[in-house]
Amino acid sequence: MRAGIIGCGVISDIYLKNLTGRYSNPQVVACADLFEEKAKERAEQYGIRAMSVEELLGDGEIDLILNLTTPLQHAEISTRALEKGKHVYCEKPLAVTVEEGRELLELAEKQGLFIGCAPDTFLGAGVQTACRGLADGWIGTPVAATAFVTSRGHERWHGNPGFYYQKGGGPHFDMGPYYITALVAAFGPVKRVNAMSKRTFDKRIVSAKGPLHGSVIPVEVETHLSASLEFENGALATLLMSFDVWASELPRMEIYGTGGTLSMPDPNTFDGPVRIRSMYGTEFKELPLLNPYDGNARGLGLAQMCRAIEQGEAICANGELALHVLEVICAIDEAGRTGEQVYCTTTCEKPPMLPQGILETEYGF
Ligand SMILES: NC(=O)c1ccc[n+]([C@@H]2O[C@H](COP(=O)([O-])OP(=O)(O)OC[C@H]3O[C@@H](n4cnc5c(N)ncnc54)[C@H](O)[C@@H]3O)[C@@H](O)[C@H]2O)c1
Repeated sequence: MRAGIIGCGVISDIYLKNLTGRYSNPQVVACADLFEEKAKERAEQYGIRAMSVEELLGDGEIDLILNLTTPLQHAEISTRALEKGKHVYCEKPLAVTVEEGRELLELAEKQGLFIGCAPDTFLGAGVQTACRGLADGWIGTPVAATAFVTSRGHERWHGNPGFYYQKGGGPHFDMGPYYITALVAAFGPVKRVNAMSKRTFDKRIVSAKGPLHGSVIPVEVETHLSASLEFENGALATLLMSFDVWASELPRMEIYGTGGTLSMPDPNTFDGPVRIRSMYGTEFKELPLLNPYDGNARGLGLAQMCRAIEQGEAICANGELALHVLEVICAIDEAGRTGEQVYCTTTCEKPPMLPQGILETEYGF
């Protein structure tokens, strides 16, 4: 499959590195950005063509658009790509409202095309091993989970961090997809949401190196959220997501079962370790990892999607999953602002596991 990238910012680098090295499908042939020079720079770096957004969307040889723009632009770029007859794989979140997300899925279906979405970290060695451990009953029946996103904000390292504080930003839209997708992969879909939230600072100062160092960013979103989720299977999860915390010693995620506890790796990575303490044990024991996708394997979800489209398999990082995760994030946002409990209107299947026991090259990625 031939792909074109729209959005040549920070995250495009690792996608291009992996898609021109680690994975063989899709073949990335071109890139575009609102700023021509950014597209040219990436194109030169990776030996692909730089085009305007319009040219790239109109190119008949490109089958799929990898949308790496900022969240507020996701729906517009993905819509334009689908209208031009191209499959879409979008960075997270799928869109910034549930309505936009729903329209994207409807459009894809109408056009006979597929839409996939990051994160794909849940396909990595860590979360896949944890999901297998849960499915195989290592901690009995899962009862509950805790998840903690503690950070002082991306303005400390990202050169242009304004989007993290606009609509579609905040820790829930930015980091929530990793944690909520991992929880949905483990438990299945969410039924209802409660939350409280606050905006600790009205302004943030860019401390990352670069031209914007020292500039002031207005904060338009909540930056500290505490949420409770009830899943359709009855499990409960407690989430803390913050851009207001300087330091913490909390774990990233734990899952509690009737027969033990599973310590999850950071779901914002592809790595382990996955550790289990059974009701019969006295200490946590590490499980062997089930697949070779650790390190920064970004693009794995896209590579699997391309293979799935060509071979008629199920897409793991699929649109229904991304829409449900988006709805949970929007529900946390709404519940936090209004104090009202929110019931989900969307649902999804637990995403399929990445096929096991097949090496990267043999898998055809
Ligand atoms: N930076 C990270 O570490 C990281 C990690 C995981 C996911 N992401 C996600 O990746 C996406 C992009 O993040 P980033 O850090 O690369 O942002 P960025 O600001 O560095 O890059 C975004 C690029 O998109 C371009 N762009 C914006 N609107 C456009 C439009 N309408 N048409 C064409 N180009 C347009 C911008 O000019 C910019 O070059 C976000 O959704 C983010 O959540 C980022």
